[in-house]
Amino acid sequence: MSSKIQFGTKIGLIAATVGSAIGLGNVWRFPAETQANGGAAFLLLYIVCVLCLGIPVMLAEFSLGRGGRSDAVGVFRKLSPGKPWWLVGAVAVLASYLIACYYMVVAGWTLEYLWHSVAGGLYEAVDTASGESLRSAFDVKMDHYVCDDVNPLIFTVLMIVVNAGVLLGGVQKGIEKLSNILMPLLFVILLAICYVTLTLPDAGEGVRYFLEPDFGRITPRVVVNALGQAFFSLSLGMGILITYASYYPADTNLTRTSVIVSLLSLLVAVLMGLIIFPAVKSFGLDNESLEGATLVFVTLPEVFAQLPWPRLWSSLFFLLLFVAALTSTVSITEVTVAMLEDRLGMRRRTAVLTAMAPLLLLSSLCSLSFGSLSSAKLFGLTIFNLLDTFTTDILLPVGSIAVCIYMGWFAPKGLLADELSNHGSRRSRWTAPVLFIIRYLAPVMIGLILVFNYM
Ligand code: PFF
Repeated sequence: MSSKIQFGTKIGLIAATVGSAIGLGNVWRFPAETQANGGAAFLLLYIVCVLCLGIPVMLAEFSLGRGGRSDAVGVFRKLSPGKPWWLVGAVAVLASYLIACYYMVVAGWTLEYLWHSVAGGLYEAVDTASGESLRSAFDVKMDHYVCDDVNPLIFTVLMIVVNAGVLLGGVQKGIEKLSNILMPLLFVILLAICYVTLTLPDAGEGVRYFLEPDFGRITPRVVVNALGQAFFSLSLGMGILITYASYYPADTNLTRTSVIVSLLSLLVAVLMGLIIFPAVKSFGLDNESLEGATLVFVTLPEVFAQLPWPRLWSSLFFLLLFVAALTSTVSITEVTVAMLEDRLGMRRRTAVLTAMAPLLLLSSLCSLSFGSLSSAKLFGLTIFNLLDTFTTDILLPVGSIAVCIYMGWFAPKGLLADELSNHGSRRSRWTAPVLFIIRYLAPVMIGLILVFNYM
């Protein structure tokens, strides 16, 4: 059973958790959100949200996972037997599975772009273009790579197969080993690309936009968006941290782990800002170029095309995206795999295959919703957008509030204190403030996300 399995090393458990936290949320969603919400002021709010709310809620999830030593549903059953609190875990598992369905598609695109950068297809027939025609050349490429039926579908399926391969390796030989290799690689690539963009002409203008806050731009909506971004980028409310913490050894310092993971996740977001904004400003690109999928699949290839060795930078960048996406998708599918192992007593192999089969079907539908299923809509949303909206706007905030209420008010007395102090073997000064935040502040603030999503 997965409850007996543990990560093998301290570095390994941090690499795996950081790998989950650092995903497309940091490298893509963050710069787009920063642009949409007014630049540096958003960054500042995001940092405050990560430190003041994200870390305490992360500690609540860690304590649940390690205290209950089971999957995201099982921990509630173990800690509060006979009570319906396991439904909180069920919401998290449902959210994680539905997120995996559409995130696999986007992860597939990163693999597809990596392939076409390395093989050269992305820059074919683009070499001679410039200005507007350069942009439209990449627009056409994106139409082809993302909206075709067959190409993206193949890469989505490939991504699911790679995930299955890693998960079949188990917690230590699959997840931990992969993270130990890929996380250092991610930071090296990030720093190399950052160096290149920061040395572009007029890069300073982009840096100023990103780092000099204009407080006049802060509105309640910007605060709520920063909080939503902080929670997403820390993988909160998805059952991931509960599941991973169930693999933490008893002597893991949870507080230190949460601070390291959050700071590294923040660091990646900031480095991405230092890549995107200088590059965009240096080439005089407009704000539209930072929106949605355009940012990474059109704007950045356009920037790379104007640098020496475009294919090198493009390959490195999409490798970065692929690495970020892979370590995140592995973590989110592990939530279901662990649940199947622990709840239904499945062997790992059976659990992985059982989790992957419906995922293949649902992700394929999400992928086709950019192609021949683009007119299949419910509430005016395509299958992809429906899953995205339902999970990020409803399931994640509801799940996070429920976790806070459970840990703050209904969990066995002393669970948080026991876990933060490793059952009294180390002093923890943080229990009281963390408890205060998860009892009062976090539920109210996350509640605001829900309210604002309906306005
Ligand atoms: N922190 C992750 C990110 O920023 O992308 C959240 C996540 C999303 C993890 C989707 C896993 C996943 F499949």
